[in-house]
Amino acid sequence: MKTVQLPDGERVPALGQGTWRMGEKKKAHADEVAALRLGTDLGMTLMDTAEMYGEGGAEKVVADAIAGQRDRVFVVTKVYPHNASRTELPKACERSLKRLRIDAIDLYLLHWRGDVPLVETVEAFENLRSEEKIRRWGVSNFDVEDMEELLATENGSSCATNQVLYNLEHRETEFDLLPWSQRNKIPIMAYSPVGHGRGLLNNATLKKIAKRHNAMPTQIALAWVLRQSGVIAIPKASNKAHVRENAQSTHLELTKGDLTEIDRTFPPPKSNQRLAML
Ligand SMILES: NC(=O)c1ccc[n+]([C@@H]2O[C@H](COP(=O)([O-])OP(=O)(O)OC[C@H]3O[C@@H](n4cnc5c(N)ncnc54)[C@H](OP(=O)(O)O)[C@@H]3O)[C@@H](O)[C@H]2O)c1
Repeated sequence: MKTVQLPDGERVPALGQGTWRMGEKKKAHADEVAALRLGTDLGMTLMDTAEMYGEGGAEKVVADAIAGQRDRVFVVTKVYPHNASRTELPKACERSLKRLRIDAIDLYLLHWRGDVPLVETVEAFENLRSEEKIRRWGVSNFDVEDMEELLATENGSSCATNQVLYNLEHRETEFDLLPWSQRNKIPIMAYSPVGHGRGLLNNATLKKIAKRHNAMPTQIALAWVLRQSGVIAIPKASNKAHVRENAQSTHLELTKGDLTEIDRTFPPPKSNQRLAML
């Protein structure tokens, strides 16, 4: 499995697993756990979750998926912006640790920017790191201006990643955020890499390229996200067949011709565009 290096030197798999929409229905629990465990066996040993997903339900799914194999899995979870204050962040972290049934979160992200000043959130993250409740922290849905403000904040340069929307239909980051992140060696974690299960996978160009590679459209979409350095992708799949397909995408190399065809159907941004978010 290709890996991506975080600023502190830790290497994580370039392809991980998302969990949004998991932990919402009791009867889906066993299948969701099984899908995440299969993904881990296939090398997708990074799991992304959030206190928001299923209001804690997804973290409980992750807890069962990593039971007995905690050390194999890199656990990422996210805090609501309204919980990112000096007083609330430690409490939210404790709740997540309890639901995840672990001693420390590998990467704790601010889900999106809210009203709490960045300096206060960073200080609270750093306190949790000193207490060994979290191993590192990062942000999500931050555009270049937010990242610059963060880096100008005391200890802000300890940010380990920025999780943002990035897929064939959402290439906004390519104009400035992605090059900025590569220059600053802060990896991007691409969310909704296969288009959140909407129409993207039915696109005719994607289907045509997939046929040429004897692959599935999802694998082309993922290989495309993973073609760049410093990018991690976290597709969510509750279906085991989908998990197997996604894991296979790391073996796929897109040709120059494929990339040109993709650019015609999904043009790269020609100017600065506001970072989109789901
Ligand atoms: N930071 C943020 O603000 C933010 C926002 C959105 C998402 N995220 C994170 O990023 C993760 C991924 O994003 P996402 O869940 O929005 O969208 P996604 O991963 O692009 O798409 C998930 C959907 O695609 C389907 N799918 C997955 N693999 C497939 C395959 N091989 N063939 C056909 N369909 C496939 C899934 O179906 P099945 O489940 O039925 O397999 C599901 O319906 C989330 O789960 C979450 O962890 C973060």
